[in-house]
Order: sequence, then C-alpha cells, then structure tokens
Amino acid sequence: METRLPGLREELDADFCVVNGENVANGVGITPRLAEKLLAAGADVITLGNHVWRRPEIGPYLAESERVVRPANLWSGAPGRGLAVAPAADGTPVAVINVLGSLFLDPPTSMFEAIDGLVDEARQATPIVVVDLHAEATSEKVALARWLDGRVTAVLGTHTHVQTADARVQPGGTAAISDVGMTGPHDSVIGVKAEQAIQRMRTGIPVRFETAESDVRIEGVLVERGPDGRATSIQPVRVSV
Ligand SMILES: [Fe+2]
Repeated sequence: METRLPGLREELDADFCVVNGENVANGVGITPRLAEKLLAAGADVITLGNHVWRRPEIGPYLAESERVVRPANLWSGAPGRGLAVAPAADGTPVAVINVLGSLFLDPPTSMFEAIDGLVDEARQATPIVVVDLHAEATSEKVALARWLDGRVTAVLGTHTHVQTADARVQPGGTAAISDVGMTGPHDSVIGVKAEQAIQRMRTGIPVRFETAESDVRIEGVLVERGPDGRATSIQPVRVSV
C-alpha cells in the first residue's frame, strides 16, 4: 500500500487522505513505526478501531500524535484523542473524528454520547469534517449518518472489511457509506488465510491466523465537497495493487 498510495492520490486528485490503520501490524493493531510509514506514504490522518491497544507501544505514541486518532468513546483516561485537524493539500483544514459502534464492540460510552460535542469542536476549526465510524452493524452506521446529515462532510464506515453498495450523499449534504472496504488480500476471509478462518468456524477450535497474500487491493471512497463543507459526490474506489 505504501508504494501505491502516493500514485493513487495523484490519479484521484485527492487533496486529503484518511487511512484506517487499525490492522496494519500483520493483521491486528498498529505500531508507531507503521503509523509513521503510512503518514510518510501520503496518509494525512490515520484512524483506528477496536484493536487500538493490541500493540502496547502505541499508547505513548497516541498521547503525542496529532495525526493518529483512536476512537473517541473509549475510557476517558485512555491516551490519545478522537479528533484531529490537519491541512489538506491546498491548506484548508480538515477535521477527522473516529468513533466506535456498540454492537459486539461494547465501548464504555455510546458514540451518540460523544459525537455531538466532537462535531461542535471540529466545526469550530473547519466546516469539512470526516467521521470514521468503526462499527459492526449497518443499522448503527445508517443511523449515525442520518443523525449527522448536514453537520459533517462524510460518515464513513469501517471494521467489517467488505465494501458496501450504499454510497450516497444524503439530503443535507453528508456523504455516507456503511463500509469503505478492505485494503489487503482479498483472496482470504477478510484478510486471513481462508482455510484457517474456515477451520476455526467449522470446528470451534482455536487456529493460529496468518495474513493472506494474494489479490491485494486498496479499497476506499473518494468524496468531493463544496466550499461550505457539504459533500457533492461519493465514489467507491477499488484498485488492484
Ligand atoms: Fe475493527
């Protein structure tokens, strides 16, 4: 991905790039070194998810980082933050918010408790606000997108790894998709060698998972917006590497 990303940004003429990096460390978690690598390759902000703490060294890094955010609705004493503001290529500030859905992920507080304050804070800095909603349930993803319609530029779902066919711009000008898809090996079961994932599901016996290797693709979305921060289009991106 780090070799393909700079060229892809250019091809898509993307002014700003958000990467969900929660599984870049061999399929689970992220390390400071890998975060720096992604930022150097063209990510402006990195978002995370339920696997945020898998690599213990990430805590002190998150406490210092202004470009790597973790879900905002975690324990209030956790290091790091759930909102970042960084400049796009033309200097326009872009705010990025990361929250966790409730189903199966059980965050200490609901994203709905956290989101309004975060959006208000973000909008004090810029009208361009991107929300990475890391969640299992499409219902939660659709609900948050509706709740925020007209207040943010985009609500982009992550975590389920399979790109959904519901990319749309809502009436208030908020673009949304339930899942942006997976950057990784698609000859797999959501990134894991298929035979290992199937064996575990068939037998219920723990199996050591390895990251698959073939049919690597970058998936995501391209969102265009007007000067007021409202989205004008959202297009799925699927590129073989
Ligand atoms: Fe996740």
